[in-house]
Amino acid sequence: VDSTTQVVYQLHTAAQRLYQHILLNTTSGEQALAYLHEKRQLTDDIIKHFGIGFVPEDNALLNYATEQNISREMMRTSELFISNDQSELRDRFSGRIVWPIKTERGQVVGFSGRALNANNNIKYMNSPESPFFTKGKILYNFDLAKNQIRQTNTVMIFEGFMDVISASMAEKPVGVATMGTALTRDHVRQLSHVAKRILLVYDGDEAGQNAARRSIDLIREYAKNVDIGVVYLPDHLDPDEVRVQRGLPVLKQTLEQNIQTPVEFLVNAARVGKNLSNQVQYLAFLQEVMKTLKSASPVEQDIQLTRIANEFGTSKHALQTQLQQSVNQKA
Ligand code: CTP
Ligand code: MN
Ligand code: MN
Ligand code: MN
Ligand code: MN
Repeated sequence: VDSTTQVVYQLHTAAQRLYQHILLNTTSGEQALAYLHEKRQLTDDIIKHFGIGFVPEDNALLNYATEQNISREMMRTSELFISNDQSELRDRFSGRIVWPIKTERGQVVGFSGRALNANNNIKYMNSPESPFFTKGKILYNFDLAKNQIRQTNTVMIFEGFMDVISASMAEKPVGVATMGTALTRDHVRQLSHVAKRILLVYDGDEAGQNAARRSIDLIREYAKNVDIGVVYLPDHLDPDEVRVQRGLPVLKQTLEQNIQTPVEFLVNAARVGKNLSNQVQYLAFLQEVMKTLKSASPVEQDIQLTRIANEFGTSKHALQTQLQQSVNQKA
């Protein structure tokens, strides 16, 4: 690690401590703390465990770094500041609650900041890509979760860090999240080194379902021996919303019991947005199902075809013939 990297790392560590102190112990953090307690139902213990902080508008970090005689050049390199039109620096995450993003070894290398007032601001802002912060390689919470992932052989992948935190509160401290980007081959490789089983827990909305599909493909391609499960969330909620709106026991139960196989998930996903009593749409649904079932195990094929036959009154024999035809079709 060269000396620039060392200073950038130290500044991130100092920033995390300073921002957490401001959140927990000062009047400029009061409003943010009340939001985290009341709206997000987080305790001080959880806030401390995950190193959450608040960045006030008074350039607390800029003042600290200036006192420490850190050069403007170094401050720019750290990406912890932004400059205004007059090229004056200010704290990048001003007015935001910040979650530290750490390397696998626990070094803070970036932040994700949520606007306290998300109505007239961009909701989330992350540290920009830099030599110190690479979104395609970093997994939120991997440092804290790694031991538990190893012990249970299982990792849960979420969309947001509040979902990771909610899972941890629900006795599932094995969650990680990507930093506002899609899962990458590098993420999959890292996870496959410590887990035999990956559970995808994406938001119950359309974006989440599409993300789950992409991740299934990627894991199947780059981690062939890893078992995949997809957790189904009720009523278009995300895991954090399940916790706050329905309670921790419901989230815990959801994470333990609402698990589908990828085939089951993909077949169910093929229904979405279709009126299956319309014949054209029913046939389109079947085509999509056959695509999924082509590479499925004989037992999973049988389970799904039996279900469809029973539900729609199509003969199972016809369904099997159609599946056989799609298997025979090249590509
Ligand atoms: N995200 C981002 N930039 C955005 C929106 C989202 O980086 N403009 C990332 C964040 O990491 C966020 C995740 O994508 O945690 C999931 O997005 P979303 O479901 O919209 O956010 P939530 O985490 O549910 O946000 P909250 O519960 O705080 O409203
Ligand atoms: Mn409070
Ligand atoms: Mn979402
Ligand atoms: Mn969400
Ligand atoms: Mn949410």
